[in-house]
Amino acid sequence: MNFLAISGSTRRASTNTALLDTISQLAAPATNIAVLNILQQLPIFSPDLEGAATQVDVRKLIDLVRQTDGIIISSPEYVHAIPGGLKNAIDWLVSGDAIIDKPMVLVHASHRGEDMLSALRLVLGTITANFNEQLFLSFPLVSKSPSEIGAYLRTDANTRQIRAFISDFEAYARLST
Ligand SMILES: Cc1cc2nc3c(=O)[nH]c(=O)nc-3n(C[C@H](O)[C@H](O)[C@H](O)COP(=O)(O)O)c2cc1C
Repeated sequence: MNFLAISGSTRRASTNTALLDTISQLAAPATNIAVLNILQQLPIFSPDLEGAATQVDVRKLIDLVRQTDGIIISSPEYVHAIPGGLKNAIDWLVSGDAIIDKPMVLVHASHRGEDMLSALRLVLGTITANFNEQLFLSFPLVSKSPSEIGAYLRTDANTRQIRAFISDFEAYARLST
């Protein structure tokens, strides 16, 4: 299966992106997970820019979402909320049909961020009929560097947990489509 992973952080040394990168590496080659890296290139959503006026990076996002078997999101909390860049990407997807039945799950790179998580759960449960809230994986990665995160997630117990999570998401995505 092919999945798309979206990090809510555009920070170079992001813990959320490092979590998704490592999940992608641990899932391969059985499962292909592409980690998306274009949130910072998307214009601010406006209905006036939809349709014929849609910018190339937005089209790319919509096409990637349409083609993927499922989406994994990992996001920091910014001021008790979903970061603007991630919410902006979601806003671009809402009026089209690419996202409607897409299987989606959350992973989390922090021991905090409950306000963002509950807001994001509400949003994802609204934009797709196949958001699986029960399937959730969380690691306390705040302040760790990408290489520390890679090493931490490659311990036997964490690797087992990640591979089981991906396998469960694949089973869910198969049932949902
Ligand atoms: C502008 C800003 C606002 C933040 N607000 C919160 C917050 O409300 N609650 C929280 O737990 N952490 C908050 N944080 C901390 C980040 O969520 C945390 O550092 C996270 O690990 C960053 O993710 P990243 O490593 O993927 O960039 C904030 C960080 C920034 C830069």
